Amino acid sequence: MEHPERKLSNQVAIVTGAGQGMGAATANCLAHEGAVVIVSDINESKAARVTAEINDSGGTAMSAKTDVTKEDEVASMVGCAIDNYGSVSILVNNAGILYPTRIDHVTKAEWDQVLDVNLNGTFLCSKAVLPTMKEKEYGRIVNMSSSAGRSVSTLGGIHYTAAKAGVLGFTRAMAKEVAPFGITVNAVCPGLIDTEMVRIECTPERIKGYEESFPISRLGTPEEVAQLILFLVTDSQYITGASIDINGGDLMM
Ligand SMILES: NC(=O)c1ccc[n+]([C@@H]2O[C@H](COP(=O)([O-])OP(=O)(O)OC[C@H]3O[C@@H](n4cnc5c(N)ncnc54)[C@H](O)[C@@H]3O)[C@@H](O)[C@H]2O)c1
Repeated sequence: MEHPERKLSNQVAIVTGAGQGMGAATANCLAHEGAVVIVSDINESKAARVTAEINDSGGTAMSAKTDVTKEDEVASMVGCAIDNYGSVSILVNNAGILYPTRIDHVTKAEWDQVLDVNLNGTFLCSKAVLPTMKEKEYGRIVNMSSSAGRSVSTLGGIHYTAAKAGVLGFTRAMAKEVAPFGITVNAVCPGLIDTEMVRIECTPERIKGYEESFPISRLGTPEEVAQLILFLVTDSQYITGASIDINGGDLMM
């Protein structure tokens, strides 16, 4: 059934790392507004679960098992979206990993892995959707950076901070290049958000300590970040190359 009042009717969105956390919340939020959502994740069963959730609640989703660091898998994810739904107008580069390792113990392999998923994956997916967005002269790309990219990571190691700062530079450079084609590129910089990534790294006592130090004294929710992403892919026409903080006032700049 058509819902013309929905903000994203006739839009096709890819959300990477959508098997849980902020990616899952974003996939659900975009689907709720009428987008067809490609629920992409390296973890096939988690992607399938979110896809089923969306389809069961009246939305349209397709799952795509994709490792964002693998160019061939990224190409087939985008190809599959285009074959099934004609184009891709929204990309949310959300997939990310974090290790808390201090520099003395960061191996070259771990450095490469963190840069690969958080930064290179963003590059590969963005490059892969460009032809279809250029053809339609319309696109919305949102990259998941972090407060880490604006300052320094609370939980992650040096590689995580470097990768998320890289995402911000990538966002600005790409935004400048693709603006003439009707494509905007922005970055979202969450502080501590209540997801598995944070729960795995922190004891409840440590989380409580962080919460007490924030002006808005709680963690953010995945749904709050999803709402910001929704704004960037719908109502914002004149925002591009921006790095937008969402951190309860933990980092003000
Ligand atoms: N949670 C936070 O406090 C926080 C804060 C700032 C930024 N971030 C960033 O937000 C994004 C989402 O974080 P989250 O907390 O929801 O994380 P999460 O760990 O809950 O979920 C991340 C998802 O990414 C997937 N993934 C991992 N490697 C992948 C790969 N190579 N290819 C495709 N998918 C892959 C995982 O399977 C998982 O489903 C990440 O980029 C993270 O760095 C998180």
